[in-house]
Order: sequence, then structure tokens, then C-alpha cells
Amino acid sequence: MEKNFKRTTVTSALPYANGPVHIGHLAGVYVPADIYVRYLRLKGRDVLFIGGSDEHGVPVTIRARKEGISVQEVVDRYHGIIKDSFEKFGISFDVYSRTSGPIHHQFASDFFKKLYEEGKFVEKVTEQFFDEATGRFLSDRNIKGECPRCHAADAYGDQCEKCGATLSPEELINPYNAETGNPLVQKETKHWYLPLDKDQEWLEKWILEEHKEWRPNVYGQCKSWLDGGLHPRAVTRDLDWGIPVPVEGADGKVLYVWFDAPIGYISNTKELCDARPELGSWETWWKDPETRLVHFIGKDNIVFHCIVFPAMLKAHGGYILPDNVPSNEFLNLEGNKISTSKNYAVWLNEYLVDMPGRQDELRYVLTANAPETKDNDFTWADYQARCNNELVAVYGNFVNRALQLTQKYYEGRVPACGELTGYDRETLAEFCGVKEKLEALLENFRFRDALKEAMNLARIGNKYIADCEPWKVIKTDPERVKTIINISLQLTANLAIAFEPFLPFSSKRLREMLAMDTFSWEDLGSTTLMQEGHQMPKPELLFTKIEDDAIAQQVKKLEDTVKANEEAAYVAAPVKPTVSFEDFEKLDIRVGLVKACEKVKKSKKLLKFTLDDGSGQDRTILSGIAQWYEPEQLVGKRVLFIANFEPRKMMGEESHGMILSAVNFNGDLSVTTTIDDVKGGSQVG
Ligand code: 2FM
Ligand code: ZN
Repeated sequence: MEKNFKRTTVTSALPYANGPVHIGHLAGVYVPADIYVRYLRLKGRDVLFIGGSDEHGVPVTIRARKEGISVQEVVDRYHGIIKDSFEKFGISFDVYSRTSGPIHHQFASDFFKKLYEEGKFVEKVTEQFFDEATGRFLSDRNIKGECPRCHAADAYGDQCEKCGATLSPEELINPYNAETGNPLVQKETKHWYLPLDKDQEWLEKWILEEHKEWRPNVYGQCKSWLDGGLHPRAVTRDLDWGIPVPVEGADGKVLYVWFDAPIGYISNTKELCDARPELGSWETWWKDPETRLVHFIGKDNIVFHCIVFPAMLKAHGGYILPDNVPSNEFLNLEGNKISTSKNYAVWLNEYLVDMPGRQDELRYVLTANAPETKDNDFTWADYQARCNNELVAVYGNFVNRALQLTQKYYEGRVPACGELTGYDRETLAEFCGVKEKLEALLENFRFRDALKEAMNLARIGNKYIADCEPWKVIKTDPERVKTIINISLQLTANLAIAFEPFLPFSSKRLREMLAMDTFSWEDLGSTTLMQEGHQMPKPELLFTKIEDDAIAQQVKKLEDTVKANEEAAYVAAPVKPTVSFEDFEKLDIRVGLVKACEKVKKSKKLLKFTLDDGSGQDRTILSGIAQWYEPEQLVGKRVLFIANFEPRKMMGEESHGMILSAVNFNGDLSVTTTIDDVKGGSQVG
């Protein structure tokens, strides 16, 4: 930090209350923000951590219509679920409020009014799509039509999901209301715009010259927006859910969600400070130049936090601007994009049920694999490997050895430290430098590397105790063991501090096991944290192994979701051209009783059927369905087959006919059978 700030206001993007939060949210925004805030608090700095739910905008209204409930019910439900998940994951907000509340409505409305009265907006009348049947203007996402590029019938007003083209609604052929199917017309409507073109100059100077230290992804996105030239942006919408535009004649119009949501950071701070006067006035946290403002966000929010919101704050006057906007890239899941609408995610509320008490494990993996500089992939296999090979085998193992040996040899009392060997000194020296390293990384929002450093401390400890082999030395030199254990306990106490910002639950448990009542960041690196004679309770394991079963269940859950999505998206193939009765009659379809069925050697695909076809002689047919059936499942079944199908040789066997199977939406084959007992050889038609 170049400037000496007195306090820090940390905000984290307000998640839309249109669904629960998932690992992508946690990895992208909330865990990094929480690590940072916990670190600042441990250092004794003044900090407020502001969060809340974003309850306006189109996504919540879509969810309400989908679920057949009111929008208020949707936001009430998900705000509750999200808030609870954050609490349970230890995301240590000072306030977690919501934008549908009266304090926020008033605050955002006043903010708009001030800008309006001071002539900071430009008014523009444009043509927008309108549904005459419902009397509503539609947002881009609620408009569908034929894609002008690939001619898919159901492209969205902003994008065609089939060919990936970015679209605007006017480009669609025959646009219609995505929900009702009603055709749309264009109708004039008035809106208020923030003339960002006028902010171009100062934004360029402020970001491109004065904030070169911002992460390259953030700086780069800002630069490309600025290079492209800024244009006025509408800050109001025709919608019936949101904060009414506080201007006469603006009935049916609300503030654009991206106008009111960031103001939510301020109104939530006000709500907090009004309830807790000891924190001072909310204005200190937003207007005092000695306050440092930091926004934690995901990469799709960069333009709003680096360009639009600062322009709003500047237009209003009196506010500080963000000093940094650490934004992460995206986290994928098992190679696919996480999607709320497709239910493809690891939902935090479900994880808490499926993996009880394992919040730190997820915090660890998401930080170790954080998408800080590029998109990253979360896989359950990696989760298991990191938990078992790092948390259990390194950190947990070291702590467990140190504490168990203290119990065993000294009944849980810290032994005295005797004379140090060269190796002891080397180990301690390695440890002492860590505070500075961690600080430099944390101050620069490099949480992944910082966690690696903390883990490195555990590795040093693990190596030390393994090299010193106190369990052997105890037989020959019990005095030396006292020193080894004393040093190991000093290292353990350091770990409890170093890991606190990252893994708060296990750090707390570790402090309990160490009977360590007070601790501070400044103690990190100290080799006298545990005093001789200090009594500790009986230890428990800090981490336990993740079993294969638990992982397999999670993988299956995702596979089931993918399957369900494929099924939902399945559209039957178009019907083939008409055939005459004569043509149909050429095919001799019959019922065959399966007398025997076996795998064909050297083939993964083929099953060999022996059928009773009513002729008195066995008929052999080969069919490529081995992937879907065990041969014995089919014996005794009646199947349909084409009796006059040209004989064919496959894998050295002759096949006399073709068994009919249905091809399911996902390509799986299912053999057709008759419902009733029909005699072998009966004709089908
Ligand atoms: O992208 C999102 O989920 C938005 N709801 C983030 C809003 S951040 C801030 F402006 F409140
Ligand atoms: Zn298309």
C-alpha cells in the first residue's frame, strides 16, 4: 500500500438472489475477500466488510415466473439461503443486507434524484420491444426470435445459444415474447442516461495512469473499454420490479439494477453504522480520503465497478473512489461452465449437507486453485487429492504428531526448550521470514501464493519432526526430545495464526487444542508462543480423509444433472419422408424369443442372439448393444427383429437379421420387446 490509509472499506459483489450461491461465487469473490478482511483484522486495522443480496433486475423476475411465485417470495427465499451459506462458510461480513429493503430503496432513490436535479443525466427517447398483449416492454433476455446468422428458431435478444453470436434484439427475425410467445412491436420510451462519454478523460487518467498496479485482467478490460470510447448508458428500465424512478411521469420505470446494486454497498454500510454507532458515521467509510475502498468482484462485473460506479460516485460528488478492484476470472466445474439456470454447480447449501463440517476443506481447495489470473477448473478428484495429500498428510499430520507426542511424553504440558542444534536454528530461521512473505502476498491480493507459503510452513514442520525422529531419540536422549517437541509446538502455534485468514474453522480448533487464548498477526514468526509448562487438552485430528465414496457421489450428482439437462433439451428428430404401404410391407418384422445371448469375443459392442423365430430352427443375430446390457438380462425376452434383412458377417460370425432398438435422447440403446407373450415368428405390422 503506497498511501497510508486509516481504514479500509471492503465490498464484495452482491449476488443475485435468483438462486443459491455456488463454488464459483465462493472462489471468485467471497473467499478472497474474507481472507483479506480477516488478515486486516488480525493486523488490528480498521476495516468493514460489506455484503448483501442483489434483489432487483431481470434474473429474479424470470425465476419467479418459472417457479410460479411472486418476485418478493423468490428474493426472500434465496436471500435467506445465501446469507445462511455465507455464515456457515465463515464469510465474516460486518453486514449482509438486501437491496429490496426500505433503507436501500430510499438511499438509491435519493442518489438518483440528486443526479437528476443537478442535470447529470441526459434524457433519450428510443424504440424498444413491447408486448401489446401484456402491456410490457421486454428486456433483451426476455425476447426471442429467429437468429439472423444460423436461423435457429429460439435465439435470445442478446445472444444465440446455438451459434454463440452476440445479438441485439432488433436483429432477430420475427421477435416474440420468450415467455408468452406473443409477437412484439417497437414502441417509443424515454430513459435517463449517464453520459459516460464525458467521463472518458478523467477515467483514462485515473485508471490507465494512476492505477497501473491493478491486476492485469482488470486493467486490460478497462483499457479495452476506454480505447473503444465510452458511450452514454441508460440507468433506468421499463420494468415492474425495482426501485421506482423518482421523477414525475416515470410511471412503470425503475432504476436499472446496475445503477442501484453498487449503491447497495453504501446503503448497507449506512444500515450497519446506524445500528452500531461505535463504528462511526457511514460517511467516514465512504467519503473520507483516508479510507481505502476495495471492491472484490468477478470478471463480468469489471466495467460496472471500474467505470460506471466510479462515474456515478464522481457525478454525485463527495465520495472516494476504489483504490483497487481485485477481480478473479471464472471457475469451471469438471471442465464445464457453471450455470445457475442449468443447475450445473456445486451449491453451497448442498455441500454443507453432503460434506458436513468440511467448510475449510472447500475454502482451502478453492484458494489453492483460485482463478486469480486465468479461468480454472474445479474437479472432485483434485478436491480429494488436495484434502488428503495436503491438509491431512502435511498440515494435519504435523500438528497431530506434535500434539500427540506432547500428550504421550509430557501429559500435554509444553516441555522446556534446551540448547538448539544447527538444524533447529535453520528450521526456525526459515519460519521467521514467513510473516513478511505472507504480508507482501496478502497486501497484493495474491491469495493463492499466500496459502502456498502458509502450507510451506506446515511442510517445514512436518519435515522437522520426521527428520528429528523424537520417537526414536526418546530412548537415547530424552532431554533432546524436549527441545524437539518445544520447537514443534512453537511451529504449530504459528500455523494457527498463519492459517487463520484462510481456514478459520480449523485455526480455531487448533487454538483450542493449544489452549491459546490470545493471538495476533504480529506474533507470527515468534518462537516463544508456547510457554514452558503450558497445559493443553487432549488433541483431536485436525483433518480427516475424504473417502472415495463421497467423491463418487458428488461426481454422480453432476453427471445426473448433465443427463437431466440433455433430456430436457432433447427434441425428437424430424419425421422421415412418407413411405407407401407397399414399401412398408417389404420389411418382414417379427417377434423372436431369445433362447440364448452371449458376448462376442474380441468385440466390445456386439452381443450374439440365438432366437426362436417360429421356424423350428435357431436364428443367429448379432446386435451392437453390448454396452447397455448383460447378455443374461435378455434371455427369455421377446424382441422385434427384421427377418428379411440381408445376412452380414461381423467379427467372423454371420448375422441373419436385425434386432430393433430405440435410440434414447443421449444415444443409449434400448431393445424393443412386446408387452404380451407373443409366439416367436409372429409378424409385426
Ligand atoms: O453479477 C452479479 O451477480 C451482480 N448481482 C453483482 C452486483 S455487484 C454490485 F454492484 F452490487
Ligand atoms: Zn445463431
